[in-house]
Amino acid sequence: MNYILAIESSCDDTSAAIIDNDFCIKANVIASQKVHQEYGGVVPELASRAHQSNIIPVVEKAFRTAQIPKNKLSAVAFTRGPGLLGSLLVGVSFAKSFAQSLSLPLIDVNHLEAHVLAHFIKETPQNIQPNFPFLCLLVSGGNTQILCVKSPFDFEILGQTIDDAAGETIDKAAKILSLPYPGGPHIDKLAKSGNKHFLKFSISNLPYYNFSFSGLKTSILYTLRDKLKDEPDFIHNNLNDIAASVQYAVVSSLIKKMEKAVKNTGIKTIAIAGGVSANSLLQEEIQKLGEKYNCKVLIPPLKYTTDNAAMIAAVALFKYNAKMFASLDLTPYARNL
Ligand code: KG4
Repeated sequence: MNYILAIESSCDDTSAAIIDNDFCIKANVIASQKVHQEYGGVVPELASRAHQSNIIPVVEKAFRTAQIPKNKLSAVAFTRGPGLLGSLLVGVSFAKSFAQSLSLPLIDVNHLEAHVLAHFIKETPQNIQPNFPFLCLLVSGGNTQILCVKSPFDFEILGQTIDDAAGETIDKAAKILSLPYPGGPHIDKLAKSGNKHFLKFSISNLPYYNFSFSGLKTSILYTLRDKLKDEPDFIHNNLNDIAASVQYAVVSSLIKKMEKAVKNTGIKTIAIAGGVSANSLLQEEIQKLGEKYNCKVLIPPLKYTTDNAAMIAAVALFKYNAKMFASLDLTPYARNL
């Protein structure tokens, strides 16, 4: 058996994972940074420093958990981007030195592709992997895309947001509601006992498979501002209903475009990926869409929706098998190349 060590440090989670050559995860250790909580968002400089102090203990814990000696490794993988540059530099530099010290090849991984290919991670050797092609709705704090995934290395972007991302929109709405950052999980929880038709927000409907969320963001802001004029406690008195209405507006706009893509392409496997794929309404709606069009539906386990090195390891294994290695002079990128 061969193993790959993968490092993820693109934002505010330091993670190390070890995968075997059958896509089974032997360890997936994540150190989440609490330091940002009081600032209402990730502070890049603090994130880099926290990665610096977390990286060695996290990697050591991954080896302890997997119970695999370092001389069984075949390669070292790392997230090259997109993400915060200072954070990425910690992971990239660590991976380079670690690989060099053990004379192992290096593998660079794109963080967004990793979210999509997280569906290939196996918990046990019996798990069956999905077939290509599949349609994937990639929804995170910074991205909203519908992809046609034809192979591990061939992703066609069918549509994407022309302005804000779905996660960004939910986080912004949560901020208006004075919920902690990131707002997505709070909105999801509150929405469970709310009325999704309580408020109606305007949603842009762009041609093809593209999204626009900036109008929705403004609509949420102005609607609440007007309501507060008449009723100063409007938010406090209707928090669950507002959360449910926001969530419904974002999710229905996502599902509408996914439905169009399913109808037009005839592809019979559909997936969601990225941080927002943890959303319970989105998961329910994508299931319903799958049932309606007789599609297989891929929903990632919660632990693979957030930033984690297991998904980096899965892409790394595809690249290792294709002998796609990185050179030592490679540098990280903040935005997609
Ligand atoms: O992919 P991700 O971890 O990070 C980056 O974008 O880099 O996604 C984070 C996003 C945040 O906007 C967060 O609020 C959202 O995912 N999120 C959720 C839920 N859990 C996380 N949004 C809605 N419902 C959730 N349950």
